[in-house]
Amino acid sequence: MNKTIDNSTQPIILTGDRATGPLHLGHYVGSLAQRVALQDTHDQTILVADMQGLTDNAHTPEKVSSNILNVVADYLAVGISVEKTTICLQSQLPALAELTMYYSNLVTISRLERNPTVKNEIQSKGFERSIPAGFLTYPISQAADITGFNASLVPVGDDQLPMLEQTNEIVRKINTLAGHNVLTECRPLLSQSPRLPSTDGKNKMSKSMGNAINLGATPDEISAAVKSMYTDPNHLRVQDPGNVEGNVVFTYLDAFHPDRHYVEQLKGHYRAGGLGDGKTKQILEECLQELLRPIREKRAQFLNDKAQLLRILAEGNEISRQKTGKVLHDVKQVFGLNLF
Ligand code: TRP
Repeated sequence: MNKTIDNSTQPIILTGDRATGPLHLGHYVGSLAQRVALQDTHDQTILVADMQGLTDNAHTPEKVSSNILNVVADYLAVGISVEKTTICLQSQLPALAELTMYYSNLVTISRLERNPTVKNEIQSKGFERSIPAGFLTYPISQAADITGFNASLVPVGDDQLPMLEQTNEIVRKINTLAGHNVLTECRPLLSQSPRLPSTDGKNKMSKSMGNAINLGATPDEISAAVKSMYTDPNHLRVQDPGNVEGNVVFTYLDAFHPDRHYVEQLKGHYRAGGLGDGKTKQILEECLQELLRPIREKRAQFLNDKAQLLRILAEGNEISRQKTGKVLHDVKQVFGLNLF
């Protein structure tokens, strides 16, 4: 049963994830833990952004379609509760696509090309020569997501700040056109924890680069990922002094080990020499195995009952269609298009 709690007087939060792969530990520290905490005090919706996922995967759509339920199971496994949070699917909310069309008239191509996150993505995806129109314009669709729910708070990583900036530009344009406030400006809620590095220490964690530990990782996958982690390349013998800065094992211990004091002691020992990477990796592995075991088990249980996951999404879609439909009506009103 969705939303047994009436949170209609609480501040509205919208967050979302592209459904292009299962979620990993980077999502856990960066956003999932925060969402679990926020759902008690906020009217929170989480949007599975399948249409946005297609903006760079339209030729391999199964990458998106096959991950929708994985992502929902990830949410539920880490403690997102459907009684407190609405989970919905972007492609099932036609008002969002319609809002995108109206907003598109208020945004110039040069403004879209200036978005620093999109610029980086165009480069990293090799889109320089031919950018899909949907990809260049996804910030407009994201503005539709955010305003469609009247969200005032959007928990995101810093790479998403340009999207929020573009959203608020659209909000101000609509409100100016209307002569009064139709839409709400949003603020980012930046994660308090630093971005988790990939296991190889080189890149942003990525679903596609094999340098992330998924929430559903098997014990063997966790073990292999920890064993391959980047440490201090100059720490050749156990007795040598080692560097903890940039040493991924310590970054993960900082992020996940429950005993701060113990981690500080380990760092001191490692810096002084006498603590080997095999040992620090063993400590980290135990900690991650313990953290992920219950998550993996719950995730598998949820994925065992796909009908239930679909029911959860269908109920969330229904609630969300009402909310976004109302905003669409208000925006059409601004353009004088509510004729019927
Ligand atoms: N762009 C976000 C990401 O890549 C996903 C997203 C889509 C989103 N719609 C959103 C995030 C609305 C916040 C609000 O992670």
